[in-house]
Amino acid sequence: MSIIAQKNPDIKVNVVDMNADKISAWNSKDLNNLPVYEPGLSKVVNDARGRNLFFSTDVNKHIYESDMIFISVNTPTKVSGKGKGYAADLKYVEACAKQIAEISKNDKIIVEKSTVPVRTSEKIKEILKLNNTKVNFQILSNPEFLAEGTAMRDLEIPDRVLIGGDDTPEGKKAIESLYNIYSSWVPEENILTTNLWSSELSKLTANAFLAQRISSINSLSELCEVTGADIEEVSKAIGMDSRIGNSFLKTSVGFGGSCFQKDILNLVYIARSEGLYKVADYWEQIIVINAHQRDRFSKKITSLIKNKSLNKNVCIFGWAFKKNTNDTRESAAIYVSDYLIRSNINLNVYDPKVKRSQIYFDLNYINKNDAKNKRCVLVYDRHIDCLEIEKTNIIAILTEWDEFKEYDWGKIYDKMSKPAYVFDGRNVLEKEELESIGFNYIGLGRWI
Ligand code: UGA
Repeated sequence: MSIIAQKNPDIKVNVVDMNADKISAWNSKDLNNLPVYEPGLSKVVNDARGRNLFFSTDVNKHIYESDMIFISVNTPTKVSGKGKGYAADLKYVEACAKQIAEISKNDKIIVEKSTVPVRTSEKIKEILKLNNTKVNFQILSNPEFLAEGTAMRDLEIPDRVLIGGDDTPEGKKAIESLYNIYSSWVPEENILTTNLWSSELSKLTANAFLAQRISSINSLSELCEVTGADIEEVSKAIGMDSRIGNSFLKTSVGFGGSCFQKDILNLVYIARSEGLYKVADYWEQIIVINAHQRDRFSKKITSLIKNKSLNKNVCIFGWAFKKNTNDTRESAAIYVSDYLIRSNINLNVYDPKVKRSQIYFDLNYINKNDAKNKRCVLVYDRHIDCLEIEKTNIIAILTEWDEFKEYDWGKIYDKMSKPAYVFDGRNVLEKEELESIGFNYIGLGRWI
């Protein structure tokens, strides 16, 4: 919304949330206190805030006054009831629709920005109609394709903007209104208009395809390890085929983030609900391989400790689900660490951006064992301190932070118990360089 405000100074954008702490952080004078860490965001907020961009907790006032409302609330995977563990929980979207219907007195365009299952707009329409028969609401689907860490660039120069709407005169008029907002900075050929269902399904499909590429390359990393092929070479070779392309072919300890798993589970649920069991099973395999990649990485560490009688102590470098963000949702680091804790291994953790409290929160969330987590896990502000407290033979790299490449690995080696091992869950370090220092280097998809 900040970019929309920045690019359209004549449009007043009000961002509303019931959470007063969040809104006060968005209004904070110190731009370092914005609730989201995203390179470039503070500049955009600074350009527009107070001019035509406002943050407020007065939800009803702004519903009443606005002509267009974007619903951008969470749609997490359901944890109970029908569809538990798969379907998207639409309770926040539904609550927004009800509130909008109750407050509105003039015609409005409602834009689904949250990622939702296909045909959610039908449900929104029903709720609006049920609670307000006087106002004409037009529903649009306008999914978000930005990735964390590059969000500002993705918004500034989007590959495409997708707008789905009804194929009626009113629907077309609504599409045009949103089209005009984006066309103030996005080339017209990059703004795609579709029907509502295509737009909703395209969002889930885009994330499923991206995740599928990662699981495909990760599954092959295991094959490389037993055949002598090198996954980095395979990835480069196939990526040079212009039909395949080279993005999202980087092997890893497993994809994380708030979207891939949730959206695939959602896709699987929809397919299964429609009786398309083979389709559902096909997409579900992406999640199966992702969990397998995390587990086999963890198991390699526990087996090594057992077979070589090493210190039951591992340093974890990186907790965020990818570099340049402090977001940890579904991060592979959480699952690998939980596996190691369950194997009674102590962890010393360092991440350049993630706070100590978040790390304990993430672990407690999945294993509900606060006491054991506190006992087994220590979190440090500097990577080098992780190695001073207790002697360790193993470092596991779980996020691809650039700073890991800059470290003085000779100094790190000196501090460690020998033999010293690096398990590189992102293939970010140079094998030869580490081996010349004395490390045993275990990357992904490489001959061991
Ligand atoms: C993803 C999509 O890329 C966005 O297009 C989409 O808008 C967003 O989800 C969303 O639905 O909100 P994001 O989750 O921010 O964006 O991050 P990605 O860059 O896609 O990375 C996801 C995970 O895949 C990370 O854990 C990353 O480390 C991993 N990854 C990515 C790999 O393991 N290998 C790769 O080659 C690329």
